[in-house]
Amino acid sequence: MSEPIRFFYRGAVHEVRDASPTQTILQHLREDLHCTGTKEGCAEGDCGACTVVIGSLEDGKLAMKAVNSCIQFTPTLDGKALFTVEDLQAADGSLHPVQQALVECHGSQCGFCTPGFAMSLWGMYLKQESHGLSGRQPSRCQIDDALSGNLCRCTGYRPIIDAARRMVELPPAAFDRAALAERLQLLQRAHGFSYEARGQRFHVPRSLEELARLRAERPTALLLAGSTDVGLWVTKQMRELNEIIYVGQVEELKGMRESGGMLEIGAGMSLNDAYAAVCRHYPGELGEMWQRFASLPIRNAGTLGGNVANGSPIGDSMPWLIALGARIVLRGAAGERVLALEDFYLGYQQKDLQAGEFVQALRIPLPRAGVRFRTYKLAKRFDQDISAVCAAFALTLEGSVVADARIAFGGMAATPKRASKAEAALIGQAWNEEAMRGAMAAMREDYAPLSDMRASSEYRMQAAQNLLRRFWLETRVDDPLPALAVNAFAQA
Ligand SMILES: Cc1cc2nc3c(=O)[nH]c(=O)nc-3n(C[C@H](O)[C@H](O)[C@H](O)COP(=O)(O)OP(=O)(O)OC[C@H]3O[C@@H](n4cnc5c(N)ncnc54)[C@H](O)[C@@H]3O)c2cc1C
Ligand code: FES
Ligand code: FES
Repeated sequence: MSEPIRFFYRGAVHEVRDASPTQTILQHLREDLHCTGTKEGCAEGDCGACTVVIGSLEDGKLAMKAVNSCIQFTPTLDGKALFTVEDLQAADGSLHPVQQALVECHGSQCGFCTPGFAMSLWGMYLKQESHGLSGRQPSRCQIDDALSGNLCRCTGYRPIIDAARRMVELPPAAFDRAALAERLQLLQRAHGFSYEARGQRFHVPRSLEELARLRAERPTALLLAGSTDVGLWVTKQMRELNEIIYVGQVEELKGMRESGGMLEIGAGMSLNDAYAAVCRHYPGELGEMWQRFASLPIRNAGTLGGNVANGSPIGDSMPWLIALGARIVLRGAAGERVLALEDFYLGYQQKDLQAGEFVQALRIPLPRAGVRFRTYKLAKRFDQDISAVCAAFALTLEGSVVADARIAFGGMAATPKRASKAEAALIGQAWNEEAMRGAMAAMREDYAPLSDMRASSEYRMQAAQNLLRRFWLETRVDDPLPALAVNAFAQA
């Protein structure tokens, strides 16, 4: 029998011995612990009814993050702390300011969504506290972002937003971060471990070397990072995953460094941290994409490596990474292999990832003189929605002449793909309306998009062409428009 999963829960170390490795945290809470405050709405990361806060040590420091418990597997909790809505009330029965504010502002009607909202608000409350901003009013943009993963069908959002403002005016509730960090330190394992139950195995390597060895030994095991794609294979497609290698405890995969004009980001860095890091260099260009990528709980759990490795044709990171000329670092038994990201995608759901390899990092060029870069997402909702079309453009201008052009789209082909005909139509031309219109026409030869529930083929084509036009309007040499989106998020 394998060692149990151990995590901190309700003031003590909790052990799990017999749960399936793909049991979700939500199932464990509701079905095994009979802790039913956390609700199930969609079981696919969309509604936020299941939001919990997970505490973990990141580079030795405590991080407290709201995530969707419906798509996280229980073994991923090993060495971490789990907090649910039941943990908010104080021992003397008084409500936490988050709860009190929801009561005072009438932020709940049927109440089904309320535990999820309370946990997202608590996540924001803790973040303010950890940044030394206790009592400071969060901005509307910060509130919207903290609540971007929570849906309410009956109260309406205004009273909940009021509660987000009110909670910081109430007497503060103490949270002992140092004590939790100490408890978590004691739970850390020196080496990786493997959990086995019900005929399924879940490996948790703790170093790059251990991961590389395991991957080489078990090339058919499924790699799991933030579980925001894989979780749904289990909860929606009912797939049986017999052997999993979880990369989420490998510290080396979460680092970043700058060298040779590149920002290297580890594949295991969370989407939120990765976008924050890249947005420091491209605040105006990428801030809106950061804000519109899924929701905060999805970005807290999901990773940049998972987005790129999954390689969905409608994923949001690949177009801008490809337009900027990013390279993907793969690691296998034979060492490292580095490819241009566009060469990684061979066909629908086919990647140049050999047996025993995994994605180790992404190398992203830093801003260069003369390069004009933008990325745009078209979706039916502002946040928490998948793109119908996602575009990215990077032009290198010498004076007013296009010396190089890199254009990439999601939603237009079976893979994230460059618009090579449109690029060729631009190179060597003056960056003017005529050249832009020529590239718009050439784009019809680059893509034959599908019609599906998100958009028709013709809509996609017209939208893609018009995004090129928008890019030109914003970057034209003579009289550029200010960027259309007011990007308060990047500065928040
Ligand atoms: C509600 C919701 C909203 C979403 N919104 C968006 C959105 O707006 N834009 C968007 O692009 N995506 C979106 N997604 C999809 C998902 O969040 C992203 O694709 C995410 O980046 C996946 O990362 P992950 O770490 O969760 O990957 P996982 O689910 O853990 O894994 C995804 C795939 O990558 C593989 N993998 C993971 N890490 C590695 C590695 N290091 N090496 C090799 N293979 C690896 C896994 O084996 C698996 O095949 C959304 C998902 C949900 C549930
Ligand atoms: S139940 Fe809807 S996000 Fe988890
Ligand atoms: S209070 Fe009913 S769903 Fe939000």
